[in-house]
Amino acid sequence: MTPHNEAELGDIAKTVLMPGDPNRAKYIAENFLEDVELVNKVRGILAYTGTYKDKKVTVMASGMGMPSIGIYSYELYKFYNVENIIRIGTAGSYSEDLKIFDVVLVDEAYTKSSFAKIQGYEPDTIKSSDILNKVIKEVAGNDIRVGKVYSTDVFYANDDMNEYIQKGCLCTEMEAFALFYNAYQLGKSAACILTISDNLINHEETTPEQREKSLNKMINLALESVIKL
Ligand code: HPA
Repeated sequence: MTPHNEAELGDIAKTVLMPGDPNRAKYIAENFLEDVELVNKVRGILAYTGTYKDKKVTVMASGMGMPSIGIYSYELYKFYNVENIIRIGTAGSYSEDLKIFDVVLVDEAYTKSSFAKIQGYEPDTIKSSDILNKVIKEVAGNDIRVGKVYSTDVFYANDDMNEYIQKGCLCTEMEAFALFYNAYQLGKSAACILTISDNLINHEETTPEQREKSLNKMINLALESVIKL
């Protein structure tokens, strides 16, 4: 147990899917998993362990932002012997042709955050796991975009997105960089699959109902990848 997680050591699977939203963790557990057990509810950060096609898997919320996913992913890797964390989240698109509901596999995250600099890691980019990405790409086929994401600390930032577009970022979210850094520093594996929930160029947005349906595609992709690990 940790200050933020009441699960016992054996309660958590080797592979964890991490949506940001606890309600989404609950939705995945109730609609996609069998033999489900709620293993954490500290601070409402729900974690469920069950099976998908007989493979043990845990779905745990990360909360929003790098400090939050930083805590939960560190503890999963360090204290619960987790090997793989696959973030499944939403992102804002930086181009007209990356449309709402499109799915992106993040091969690299760029940030201006101090999350890793504080810990002595100077680069402002970090890669996700090639091994996990290979599996996810095989399962997804052509139905996925692969590229770089901008992990921001500030949702309501008054900044210029052209800076991030010029760096090659396809879209923005708030957690991938910290997750990839924790995997890197602890010798573990991390991946991130994102569904585009809003387009920052033409301001197309999804309704909560559309979002739930479209997320099923990403959830299925993540779970079908987990059974190949
Ligand atoms: N910015 C940051 N995070 C996000 C966004 C966004 O526009 N959309 C979904 N997650």
